[in-house]
Amino acid sequence: MKQIGIGLAGFGTVGAGVFKHLDRNRALLSERLGVELVVKKAAVRDLKKDRGVNAPASLFTTRWQDVVEDPAVQIVVELMGGIDEARALIIRAIELGKIVVTGNKALLAEHGKEIFDLAASKQVPVFFEAAVAGGIPIIKAVRESFVGNHIKSIHGIINGTTNYILTRMTEAGLDYAAALAEAQAQGYAESDPTLDVNGWDAAHKAIILASLAYGTWICPSKVFVEGIEQVTARDICFAKKLGYRIKLLGIIKADAGAEIEVRVHPTLVPEKHVLASVNGVFNALCVHGDVVGETLFYGRGAGQDATASAVIADLAEAAAALDVKRRDCGFMPHGLYGDCKPLDQITCQYYLRVPVDDKPGVLAQVAGVLGSANVGISSMIQPESDGEQAELILMLHDATHAQVREAITRIHALECVIGEPRLLRVENFG
Ligand code: NAP
Ligand code: HSE
Repeated sequence: MKQIGIGLAGFGTVGAGVFKHLDRNRALLSERLGVELVVKKAAVRDLKKDRGVNAPASLFTTRWQDVVEDPAVQIVVELMGGIDEARALIIRAIELGKIVVTGNKALLAEHGKEIFDLAASKQVPVFFEAAVAGGIPIIKAVRESFVGNHIKSIHGIINGTTNYILTRMTEAGLDYAAALAEAQAQGYAESDPTLDVNGWDAAHKAIILASLAYGTWICPSKVFVEGIEQVTARDICFAKKLGYRIKLLGIIKADAGAEIEVRVHPTLVPEKHVLASVNGVFNALCVHGDVVGETLFYGRGAGQDATASAVIADLAEAAAALDVKRRDCGFMPHGLYGDCKPLDQITCQYYLRVPVDDKPGVLAQVAGVLGSANVGISSMIQPESDGEQAELILMLHDATHAQVREAITRIHALECVIGEPRLLRVENFG
């Protein structure tokens, strides 16, 4: 059977998983693809590290250039992570006419335009299923299965670590620090979980999805990103009382005026909505197309096996692309939509918690500021106070970020407000 030479640049969690599963499902893959995928070279930093798989020492090199330049390698798989070297590797591979597979969401979010422009000019495909939501085939779905749709919206839980933390805060009543420590102890969070908890891992994935859905690379600086570090057990508890769960959501929308909205933030999701019951490290995405309507994708968004499954799917497509030229190079530019909506113009509903003195007239003062900013209150709860301090929990109607920001600044300045007001966004999927 014809062999296709694969080069693995990176043989860590995902790279070793790809090697393991190519080996384990060799017969099945050969039967399905009509070719044999054979790893010819692999780059690592440390040649002495035990990889936990049965790979010969001769396979390994410490220079990624050895992988890319090897004449036996036809498809280059970038699984090193990081930006500079991964970018240099992918550019070199494309220049050599070698098809690229990558799971590097940070790189694509930052340099996607450069990479796909080069790929298009050289007619060399770049595949990136593993970059978004691990084992869930969301890239293929948006690029191919929904090709006949305008994508109206995508709502996604696209970071497993934060979903685990929020789930444990909700179900076990843990505070943020304890839930994060547990996620790290379970091996879900990275040893440095900064990009997970500050929302940027999810933002990178949202940028890739939005760029694919709307055919124009989204500039990271135009994306509103808020992490989960400030979410408190108290907010989770009040949200529950109001009939919501708090999830870190990636929200992507395009309006009729062709403006695109991309944001990632902790969000109150109605408890009856399917995303509210996606728990633990699982990811899920709801994609709304104008032809297909609502669709739902669910699965493991990270980890060795789920991510290797996505890389192998790309390898199958890459192998086919060696024989039959593709019309697109992995990114399908539609050019149908315009730029990102300015943050201040983004409209949504809100949850606002305001710590106040428990005195007559306080509620009227807070409501008065909201009213003068033209922000309506849809409901309110005030837990029994101790007679000195109280908390007002207000659910606000649709308003722009600009309106709400201005109102909160004025509320914070009121003498009766004794702490920082806490604002969270609400999504009612209307
Ligand atoms: P990882 O475990 O840290 O593995 C990285 C691999 O690349 C290691 O084998 C490392 O060598 C090698 N490497 C790094 N820099 C190198 C260099 N300059 N030259 C040669 N080898 C180099 O990372 P991972 O978790 O597998 O993730 C890989 C990529 O997949 C990242 O872009 C990540 O964002 C993405 N991804 C990961 C997951 C996941 O669940 N882990 C899910 C989706 C996407 P050593 O082993 O010797 O250190
Ligand atoms: N750190 C990511 C997550 C996994 O927790 O979802 C890789 O995308």
